[in-house]
Formats: sequence, structure tokens, C-alpha cells
Amino acid sequence: MRIYQEADYEAMSLRAARIMAAEVVRKPDCVLGLATGSTPVGAYRQLSQWNQEGHLSFREVRTVNLDEYKGLEPTHDQSYRYFMQVNFFDHLDILRENTHVPNGMAADADAECKRYDELIRSLGYADLQLLGIGHNGHIGFNEPGSAFVAPTHVVDLTERTIEANSRFFASADDVPRQAMTMGIGCIMAARRILMVVSGEDKAQAIYDAFCGPIDPKCPASILQLHPDVVLVGDKAALHKLVEAGVSVCG
Ligand code: GLP
Repeated sequence: MRIYQEADYEAMSLRAARIMAAEVVRKPDCVLGLATGSTPVGAYRQLSQWNQEGHLSFREVRTVNLDEYKGLEPTHDQSYRYFMQVNFFDHLDILRENTHVPNGMAADADAECKRYDELIRSLGYADLQLLGIGHNGHIGFNEPGSAFVAPTHVVDLTERTIEANSRFFASADDVPRQAMTMGIGCIMAARRILMVVSGEDKAQAIYDAFCGPIDPKCPASILQLHPDVVLVGDKAALHKLVEAGVSVCG
């Protein structure tokens, strides 16, 4: 595992964007696993800029997103499809048909989860999977539980997650109670994991994920078993790791 400690959000985003760009340069038709949330937005902005300046092409890139709220139309301004369009895809030369997000409106959610798993498998899994982390250690929408769940599945969101994500909605009551998420199986099958994290409020989750026991109570802790994890964070988010003596670059 490699850990890059950057001064602040901007530097963290630049580092993450460089690692993602390197993947696209190395393999122009790579499969990128993508994440939503506020943390990756800076990296998406930087990649969009490089694309528009002609330094980087996404023409052959395929993408698979981690998750989607159940019951939100793709055009709903809080759906993750909409988020990806506005924050990333609309600014790139990527082909829409090469971008994949679970369909939160599918009549049969379990069948949709199965379809999504099969799609990811047929693409050969992600070459690079971008991840953020929730305050409770969730990755995608894999919430703390009694077991790591391998396949794409429907989850009940925890109160903590609903509260954290309510900042994007008019009120907590408007946050969907369920979501579809890529399971731990597809995440762990990615060849490389890139986790991005920013802010003091994530420091404990990061400490638990990488210094705590491998336990489904902290879903991100399973990443300790992945052979190629790159963690890029700002000082505020990484300080508990550094204080624990974990060596970092930067
Ligand atoms: C949501 C997403 C996660 C994301 C998390 C943290 O719950 N499903 O994929 O990592 O939020 O978001 P943020 O980066 O805004 O803190």
C-alpha cells in the first residue's frame, strides 16, 4: 500500500487526478471504477480540464460507478447518474454508452443488481477503482454489518449515512432510504484501488480502515487484503495514521 499525504484538498485532488490520468495513458481503453460524493469532485475537474486541453482522451475509456440511490430517476438532480454527468462525463469526450451506473428505477432491483455484476465481470473488472469513504467506514454504499457482502446488492442506508448525505437534499426526509451498491467482490476484484479522503471528520474512519481489525463493522478495512491500494489524503484526514507511525510519502 502506498499513502500520499498532501497539504490540502487541492493538492490531494491533483495527486489523485495524476494517478487516474496515468491509468488512461497506460491503457486508453481501461475500465475506471468511479465514485460519487464531494471528495472526488476536484480530481474530476482536473481530469476534465486535461481532456479539454487535449492532453488526455477518454474516447475509449469505459466506466462503472459504485452505486445509485434506489427510486431516483437518472435525471433527478441528486441521482448519482446526474452527479456523474454534471461533474465529469459532460465535460469529457467519453461515449455515454461506455459509462455505467446502476439503474435506480429498475422495477426488479435484485435483477438489476445481478445484471450490473455481470456487466462488470464482462468488462473484466475495473483496472482502477476510485473510492471515497463514509464516516462509518462505508465504501460505495457497503454499510457496516455482520458480513462483507460480495455481490451488487440493495442496501438500507444507515441513519449516519442519511444524515451525512442530507446536505445535498432539501431535508433528511428527502434522502432515499435504500440504494444499490457494487459489492465488496467487484471492488476487491479491481486491479488497483485509489482511495481519496479529505478533512478531519474522516480521520477516524481512515484510521479504523487501515490500522484497525479487518471487520465488516468497518467495510473499508477489507482493503488491507487488497494487493494494490493507493491512499491519497490531505493532512487533516491522514493525521491519525501518521501519529500511529504509518509511513507516508509527501
Ligand atoms: C456516499 C457515497 C460514497 C462516498 C461517501 C462519502 O455515501 N456512496 O461512495 O464515498 O458518500 O462522500 P463524501 O466524499 O462527500 O464525504
